[in-house]
Amino acid sequence: MTAPSASDLPGRPGDPLRGAHVVVGVSGSISCYKAVEVVSRLVQAGAIVDVALTGHAAEFVTPLTFRSITARQPYLDMWSAHGDAGEPHVELARRADLMLIAPATASTLGRITHGLADDFVSLTALATTAPLLIAPAMDAQMWEHAATQANVATLRERGAQFLGPLAGRLASGRVGMGRLMEPEQIVDAARARLGRERGDLVGRRVVVTAGGNREAIDPVRYIGNRSSGKMGYAIAEAARDRGADTVVISTVSLPVPSGVRVVAVESHAQMMDAVMRECAEADALVMAGAVADYRPATAADHKIKREAAGDIVIPLVENADIIASTPTTSSRGTLVKIAFAAETDDLISNAVSKLKKKGARMIVANDVSATDAGFGVDDNRVTILNDEGAREDLPLMTKYAVGHAILDRLRPYLQNPLPGA
Ligand SMILES: Cc1cc2nc3c(=O)[nH]c(=O)nc-3n(C[C@H](O)[C@H](O)[C@H](O)COP(=O)(O)O)c2cc1C
Repeated sequence: MTAPSASDLPGRPGDPLRGAHVVVGVSGSISCYKAVEVVSRLVQAGAIVDVALTGHAAEFVTPLTFRSITARQPYLDMWSAHGDAGEPHVELARRADLMLIAPATASTLGRITHGLADDFVSLTALATTAPLLIAPAMDAQMWEHAATQANVATLRERGAQFLGPLAGRLASGRVGMGRLMEPEQIVDAARARLGRERGDLVGRRVVVTAGGNREAIDPVRYIGNRSSGKMGYAIAEAARDRGADTVVISTVSLPVPSGVRVVAVESHAQMMDAVMRECAEADALVMAGAVADYRPATAADHKIKREAAGDIVIPLVENADIIASTPTTSSRGTLVKIAFAAETDDLISNAVSKLKKKGARMIVANDVSATDAGFGVDDNRVTILNDEGAREDLPLMTKYAVGHAILDRLRPYLQNPLPGA
């Protein structure tokens, strides 16, 4: 079971799961079938996954299923030989970058809390020093029982991170607390945790804006723009994957990467307030949001009626430039500002003049008239210019990859001492 080289791995470069060794412990819950999807998603993200099952878990889902997905022999019977390792649980525990128990039964929680190590899941959980993530699943009464709650509190105190459970419909038919968190969320939480363990932006706080402003004409109408927010969310996801404490100030509702804090705004004025507040304690601001340059001079407090109006003219007044108005210092020291320029013509000359006006260290220019890149799609083709005159034309790539490219270039500018250092 030698580790494959990075280029052989599936998944996206920059994803902390890629190449990470994840041990998934599976215990005997009706939701074991969802563990199959958790493992499949981890493998697709490029993780090297070893599955350990309790005997009861193997009643619900066979080791063969996991072996087929991981191409690795699952760990089930402590007393049979497993590969070359003399003490397979010690070897497994030592190799793990992360241990995830999904689903965790009430019984398995109890065994780990009390140091009982009589199956491969509890044995490995006790033997490893890797971060332990636990996704419980059980009926609401079992979850709420004082014994379970005491075990959860003890495990939390010892550093275990709990993922869920969620409230909802349970296998018993009742509705309550105890559903296993969705596989996609579990995997994203594992990714976020690995980023926080070993990313190169751990200790940094990065603020990203995403989406376009809506400037009210009346209570139901607004002036907006075509920004989808995807670029901002992709940068936030990349920053989160590198361990940054990440805030996205957003005008859109897109799936939120686990661990990213969202501040929902709509208008330019709300975005300005949020940027000022969040940047007061940040290391970097990446202004990927499409800020409204103008707003209606007044917003009607009632819906403007068609018959009453005929043709109408809406006077617009200029909005302040948010990034130019943001100080270049924060409680952390320097605030590194990165601007975006979405242009349809004269891309580079417009970007260079914006860079200077905004007091930014870098500007990311993209031609939003292209059909394969820019607004609304998952890819982007950008040119990055910095305040020392360097210019880089990057090829068409995913917005997530653009996010990493921006953060690679941002990192050398982050000179503030790390908090607590
Ligand atoms: C059909 C069925 C479904 C079960 N689902 C759960 C569950 O979701 N959560 C739980 O804590 N126990 C559940 N149990 C009980 C556990 O399987 C039982 O406590 C077992 O001892 C757990 O062992 P393990 O933690 O070693 O896998 C279920 C039992 C059966 C028969």
